[in-house]
Amino acid sequence: MASPVAEALLMPILETSESESSAASIEKAVGLIREGEVVGLPSETVYGLAADATNTSAVEKIFSTKGRPSHNPLIIHVSDASMAAEYVKEWPTEAQLVADAFWPGPLTMVLPHNGRVSERVTAGGDTVAVRVPAHPVFRKVIEQSGCPLAAPSANRSNHISPTLASHVVASLGDQVTVLDGGASPVGIESTVLDLTCKPAKVLRPGMISAAAIAGVLGDCQSGNQSQSEVLKSPGQLSRHYAPKAPLVLFDPETEKVTELMAHYGVNAGEAVVLGHLMSGVPEENLPQRVLPGTPERFAQSLYAELHACDQSECRLILMQKPPTGPEWEAIHDRLRRSAQ
Ligand code: TXA
Ligand code: MG
Repeated sequence: MASPVAEALLMPILETSESESSAASIEKAVGLIREGEVVGLPSETVYGLAADATNTSAVEKIFSTKGRPSHNPLIIHVSDASMAAEYVKEWPTEAQLVADAFWPGPLTMVLPHNGRVSERVTAGGDTVAVRVPAHPVFRKVIEQSGCPLAAPSANRSNHISPTLASHVVASLGDQVTVLDGGASPVGIESTVLDLTCKPAKVLRPGMISAAAIAGVLGDCQSGNQSQSEVLKSPGQLSRHYAPKAPLVLFDPETEKVTELMAHYGVNAGEAVVLGHLMSGVPEENLPQRVLPGTPERFAQSLYAELHACDQSECRLILMQKPPTGPEWEAIHDRLRRSAQ
């Protein structure tokens, strides 16, 4: 028998891997959402903490569970573009083009809303962020509950987003029911695209790049936020994705791991060195934990590695700077916000 602590950790996670229990778990999650409760759901980007976006008291539970500031608006998750169109003032051609190219998938569009979701979702603003997720479990819960689901990442505010059901429990505790849909395959949060301006503008970079969106729309501004725009998408606040230990990015060709550890006053056993394998790295700088060298697979494992660092209670995370280039932009964005 598992210890009471282990049981407490395992209890809230409902398995969805077996098709039979999957149907039962999904039904339970749908029941909770209909009752105005919050549920942790797997998505292809990160796990979300979902509630009925039309039910203000349910949405309030998202904010209180996460400890999230109320001025930070939430993304609503819908089944398809026609359901998205039910919650916005109008559905422009650009939105349809972006939806055809990237939905279902890791892209969120910001458009003027028509007042049909709770004001708590939009934080009293004029716009709503909307996404059609690709994960089959999330899709089934939306379809069966019949309402748009407001869902931020299922972590305490300012902590690393979860890419496993166990990360959700570690962050939010055992009060929240979580459906286990396996590891999130994208691994970092969706691209947030503002369609209220021309050209459209990326407010939060993700694995769907501004260049890919420009390929569909003809033009797209990439998100180099000014101070005022930081408030427009508060997910851009610095230190938004921070692990417990300081995370320091380093260049293994010019900086030495041993010197960095001495600088931060930690012993060898207290630091984790993360990196992808590349040629020319001096032996003393080789990573202890190796991340994959492609941006897609690096993004997929990044948060799991940072969660593992949190669990190991290390005192310093030294991460070799990943390669640069447009396809690494979202990863650099998250690392900047995680680093000290
Ligand atoms: O991949 C994702 O987007 C995940 C999954 C669960 O869908 N969700 C997620 O939600 O990352 P959250 O709340 O952690 O981040 C939502 C981001 C925040 O930066 C928020 O400020 C921005 O979207 N946002 C939400 N509504 C907005 C709006 N109306 N205008 C501008 N930005 C908005
Ligand atoms: Mg988040």
